[in-house]
Amino acid sequence: MLKNINAIILAAGKGTRMKSRDESRSKVAYPIFGVPLVQYVVRAVKPLIDGEIYTVIGFGGETTRELVKGSVTDSVWQREQKGTGHAVLQVKPYLENKKGVTFILCGDTPLLTTATLENMLQDHEKKSHDLTVMTAVLDKPYGYGRIVRNKYGLVEAIVEEADSNDEQKNIKEVNAGVYVINNEKLFEQLNNLSTANAQGEMYLGDLIDLFRKKGYVVGASILQDSSEMLGINNRVQLAEATEILKLRINKKHMLNGVSIVDPKTTYIGPFVTIGADTIIQPGTTILGESKIGFDNLIGPNTYLENTEIGDGNTILSSWLTDSKVGHHNEIGPFTKTRAHTEIGSHCRVGNFVELKNAHLQDGVKSAHLTYLGDVDIGEKTNIGCGTITANYDGVKKYHTDIGPEVFIGSGTILIAPITIEKGAFTAAGSTINRDVPADAMAIARARQENKEGYAVRYHKPKPEK
Ligand code: UD1
Ligand code: MG
Repeated sequence: MLKNINAIILAAGKGTRMKSRDESRSKVAYPIFGVPLVQYVVRAVKPLIDGEIYTVIGFGGETTRELVKGSVTDSVWQREQKGTGHAVLQVKPYLENKKGVTFILCGDTPLLTTATLENMLQDHEKKSHDLTVMTAVLDKPYGYGRIVRNKYGLVEAIVEEADSNDEQKNIKEVNAGVYVINNEKLFEQLNNLSTANAQGEMYLGDLIDLFRKKGYVVGASILQDSSEMLGINNRVQLAEATEILKLRINKKHMLNGVSIVDPKTTYIGPFVTIGADTIIQPGTTILGESKIGFDNLIGPNTYLENTEIGDGNTILSSWLTDSKVGHHNEIGPFTKTRAHTEIGSHCRVGNFVELKNAHLQDGVKSAHLTYLGDVDIGEKTNIGCGTITANYDGVKKYHTDIGPEVFIGSGTILIAPITIEKGAFTAAGSTINRDVPADAMAIARARQENKEGYAVRYHKPKPEK
């Protein structure tokens, strides 16, 4: 293994082609499956780095800095965007004296994998290159820098679209925008990049020409799967990358024993884990750091984010965020859970039930039309249809404590803060605003009066005049 491997991730560009109304929005902050583009690049290269990692930030730089904080050594400002070469120059004070090699990547290429980058590093080492550029052969090379090779097949130069002649425009081998370069030679030559080109910028690719003139060894590492190099410059490419990533992730899960009924309409984020024999029905999205166990039936049309699901659950057409679910529960259709809700095992949470910061012990049932917020509910308690925890007085939120084996009658309003103790019972339609002791029945509703004959009086058809 090589030692002293550093990385620079270029993320200062304006992203003009994204056509956002928000001028300060950084292109590399656009998400795929909720994960910003730049984080894909950091995650892909990081396992190979034993030195330092810098991101070069500019447009929307504060946002980008926050996005990568903790996963890179530091972010370095490029105040004016004068090209990819100029971007790398900003890192010179931090890296120029380091031995070893430096990876240079763009923050807008989220599909590159660690395996591909590792391959490239091995190519660089085996062939004793001073500079390796990643290339790919594309049917439609438009927009990318073209790789110019000499009659011996050696890489001679990179020509950007705007600077290319008709003959060069036909070249199908392009610059993927990833380089591995001997660190000392990189910073020795970087200042020599010229701006004499169509865009008046310092192009990083021009290093190839400079290296060759010095007699340094330059070579290419050709991508096997050219889709990996897709750079996101506009929203069409953003959607293309999403599509590729979606199918790649779904395939990984299917090969691991997860059934995905319709991979086209199933969106699973890159950090989600799913156990074997779980079935994902169409129209389902699972994002964030969600962890799904074995043997679940999830979907159709279910959204899970940062949610842990145990084994053997059914989760039908529901929306669960920041929640934790045990085993063998029946959830949905149309359940919403959020804000650190925890559901034990063997529970039933049904249609139009919202749980917010709710903690349900094993065997709790809340089958329909209910709001349970800021609440603890003990084992085997039954929550009747139409129950509401009134947890908010417009200023503060209050807690509701419901013990085990409680029966909350239909249409109960529980005005928090309140405690309903073990085995208690509330009569249907009650508004409960005092604690209920164990095994008591609370009834709190106006007494009914029957007015004899009134129905006939009011509903009888009026005699015709
Ligand atoms: C670049 C390459 C092109 C290659 C393509 C691969 C150059 C000049 N061109 O073109 O050969 O085929 O990537 O995707 O290198 N950036 C800065 N500061 C700047 C300019 C750019 O940090 O002053 C960053 C951008 O944020 C981006 C990356 O560098 O992450 C590439 O810039 P971009 O404008 O996307 O270049 P491309 O036109 O895609
Ligand atoms: Mg680009």
